[in-house]
Amino acid sequence: MTLRSRIIGIGSYLPSHISTNDDMAKIVDTSDEWIVERTGIKVRHFADEQMSSSVMATYAAQEALKAAGISGNDLDLIVLGTVTPDKTFPATAVYVQSALGMKHGCAFDVVAACSGFLYALKTADNMIRLGQVKTALVVGVETLSKITDFKDRNTCVLFGDGAGCVVLQAQEVQGTTADRGIIDTLIYSDGSYAPELCSTGGPSTNHDVGYITMNGREVFRHAAVNMAQVSAEILQKNGVDLSEVDWLVPHQANIRILEATAKRLGIPMEKVISTVDLHANTSAASIPLALAQGIKEGKIKEGQLLLLPGMGAGFTWGASLIRL
Ligand code: UT7
Repeated sequence: MTLRSRIIGIGSYLPSHISTNDDMAKIVDTSDEWIVERTGIKVRHFADEQMSSSVMATYAAQEALKAAGISGNDLDLIVLGTVTPDKTFPATAVYVQSALGMKHGCAFDVVAACSGFLYALKTADNMIRLGQVKTALVVGVETLSKITDFKDRNTCVLFGDGAGCVVLQAQEVQGTTADRGIIDTLIYSDGSYAPELCSTGGPSTNHDVGYITMNGREVFRHAAVNMAQVSAEILQKNGVDLSEVDWLVPHQANIRILEATAKRLGIPMEKVISTVDLHANTSAASIPLALAQGIKEGKIKEGQLLLLPGMGAGFTWGASLIRL
């Protein structure tokens, strides 16, 4: 027998304000046709001035805790992925900890951009497997609209705000791929690509938060290759055939990246959860938001095998293999 992290609750939150492509065309020189054709994005949600990342994360967490049938104080750990923290410090996770009434354990952030949820998941899963914690909240949350340059048409149409999370709990299992829980997670980074997608600012660089800047073509070129490669690697490492995977739940940046990843991997688009049309790119929040949406739509069901690849700034990338 071995310890595995089982997902016992999932939650999500999207701010109520929706911006259409036509709304974006009133701000920059763009069009609904261009955005839909090049990205698949139709709308995105934007947080208002008062809505911080910790507030959105708390709403998502409350939904996940309710689904899990536990309270905030039952959590031993919060790991939160974001590039849009409430403040430079302390960690956004501690605000969530306080809002949930969690009085023990620890809460911290990880910064891995669009791979942030996978990095957070791997961290929490490792601590559960080692027996250090029993119950953990893993969050991906972003208020990207607050670091978006709304004068730059190359980036401002691509991003949205939101939060998604899962509650993990330690369970004794045999340790096979038939057992429910997180089977494996692989994470990678290559810092030589940092300039291709980054913020123009930072506390120790220029005392400024900065705006998102991106070499879209270079990111695009790597995204499909890296996500397909790491997906194939995690399947092979765990002796799983692609045909056993029920759903690919990838990071949602661009429908063309989703299609290219699926094609390279050899999985039909019918098995790919796509929410990029509704959410745009929400960075660390995109995978748990897609997971929650797939469940709400009745596509993803308990017991199914899920493959979650992601790729983003750093570059960082990774994949998680989960029996829900
Ligand atoms: O989550 C990980 C991070 N991000 C990503 O994964 C995004 C990766 N990259 C992409 O999704 C795509 O590269 C973009 C959607 C950003 C751009 O699509 P593309 O097909 O690679 O377009 P492009 O950069 O080659 O630009 C084509 C043209 C350019 O005009 P010229 O130079 O050919 O005259 C751009 O100026 O499209 C122009 N353009 C726009 N036109 C209308 C760029 N943005 C816009 C816009 N509206 N919003």
